[in-house]
Amino acid sequence: PPLEKFVDALPTPETAVADTSAYPGADYYELTMRPGTWRFHRDLGPADVWGYWAGNPRDRHEPIGMGYLGPTISVIKDQPTVIKYRNELPTTHLFQFVIDAIRSGDPQLAPIAPPPYTSEPPFPENVNVWNVVHQHGGFTPPQSDGMPLHSFSPDGIHAESYTTLEPDRVKRNEAICAYTNHERASMLWYHDHGMGMTSVNVYAGLAGLYLIRDPADERLGLPQGEYEVPLILQDRTFHPDGRLAYTMTQQEGEDTPVVNGKAYPFLAVEPRRYRLRILNASNERFWRLRFDPPRDVVLQPNLPFWLIGTDGGFRAPLHMLNFLIGPAERYDLIVDFGQLPMGSKVTLTNYHAPVHYPGVPGQGPEISEVMQFQVTKPLSGADRTTPPRKLKLPAVVPNEPEPRIHRREWVVYQHKLFSTMTFNAVPFMEPSQDFIKAGEKEIWEYVNPNHDAHPMHVHLVNFQVLNRQPIDAAAYQADYEKWIDGGRKAADKPVLANYFTGPPIPPDPDEALSYKDTFKSYPETVTRIITDPWSPPTEPIASIPNSGTELPATYVHHCHLLEHEDDDLMRPFTIVDPVA
Ligand code: C2O
Repeated sequence: PPLEKFVDALPTPETAVADTSAYPGADYYELTMRPGTWRFHRDLGPADVWGYWAGNPRDRHEPIGMGYLGPTISVIKDQPTVIKYRNELPTTHLFQFVIDAIRSGDPQLAPIAPPPYTSEPPFPENVNVWNVVHQHGGFTPPQSDGMPLHSFSPDGIHAESYTTLEPDRVKRNEAICAYTNHERASMLWYHDHGMGMTSVNVYAGLAGLYLIRDPADERLGLPQGEYEVPLILQDRTFHPDGRLAYTMTQQEGEDTPVVNGKAYPFLAVEPRRYRLRILNASNERFWRLRFDPPRDVVLQPNLPFWLIGTDGGFRAPLHMLNFLIGPAERYDLIVDFGQLPMGSKVTLTNYHAPVHYPGVPGQGPEISEVMQFQVTKPLSGADRTTPPRKLKLPAVVPNEPEPRIHRREWVVYQHKLFSTMTFNAVPFMEPSQDFIKAGEKEIWEYVNPNHDAHPMHVHLVNFQVLNRQPIDAAAYQADYEKWIDGGRKAADKPVLANYFTGPPIPPDPDEALSYKDTFKSYPETVTRIITDPWSPPTEPIASIPNSGTELPATYVHHCHLLEHEDDDLMRPFTIVDPVA
């Protein structure tokens, strides 16, 4: 029977407690990856899950976590954080059949195609679980960035680029990373980035929030405390007994929305303004979300709201009725439940966004109702927050290209024989071929000749979406394939400009003049982004030796459909000293 909706209260991950004595001037945390159990719904039995647990310096015996997902790390801008990650996961994977199928190399067995590793697989045959933690959206030195080849296993086996700060203070199954927190006030997140295994590791529960707060923002008049609610959106499939099923072939009706770990939760709210900080932490699902008021309330078909921020922090408030959020994107909203009578129920609804977006409407699993806000709590006091249209938020500086700005092209190339995708037909394991001068901006053009949208994420930098331009995708794909098959002779390379089918289109209103770290690369389109100057932090963090960046420094960018990044839509790039 279908799960009853809106019967479980929305949980909120607890905030981790910093130890402020370990590193003077910095906040120190210990986060342990551990197996646990979690009920996704009142009527589902407990599921085996993986999650992060934070140590608790106030009470050594009470770690902070729920079992699924991880505690929220909340920091003050520019005050550094040091985190020791510890891997206490089992040595057999929660989705071991996926690992076995990938090892077997049989694409029939593997829900995702076997990664075409072009060098040695990063772990020996008897190692089934490996992990690394990436702070998504951070301006982080590479050794703390948590990239796939930094993975380490519970039994203490390391991938080739495993590094740790403070090597004398860690065991084999641990790594210490440090963060500058120089980002703008924003909601980052941390999640597993294990080599080729990110999809199954995140699916098991390895994700959490990382909030950067700027004390100056206290004066803005935003809803805070219990009126500021993070929503971590995911979709999950369950066995009848409540265990997690990892299928990637979800059938209509089987795919269930999960918010902060609960299926179809509800949140009781007061009739006042709330700040909703939404993260799409799904493996592959896009959501087109709107707030549906009760049918008997004649307002508008849906409740309008204000967008006040995106991935990289605040932007000019934008009045909206719905928005499309791709995996890893964040939308920071103000919703006013004060305009509704007591007892109103507002349903957060997804429409026309199947798993692979845009997909074919009506085909493939769609989720409509996601969660419900129930205006049932009496007003505890007047709402003194600033009306969104009067908010004075820190301005976004438009990022204009200089005339001689360097351009880089990334073609989403689907391999003819396998379902594997790569950038520019180059597998992830090939060494970096892209060298970027520190301190310079660049324009990156993502050419997507597929029929699906991809959420693209670039480590280390914020960018703005410049524009998009439609292309003759079939012709481009065919000619690009011919060029690859013909040995990639420079003179024969298809010139993108010959395939445009229309003029550039400005960014969507919700992404224009916004700081982004993940954007939607729409099908049959080239999407252009312009980066902030590339500048990995050089100074040591929290006085830890070797915690700053030394150039050259290699990072990655990738598709944030997690099965795509595992297989193999990810490439390294390298920041180099401009004068060396
Ligand atoms: Cu959210 Cu490289 O990842």
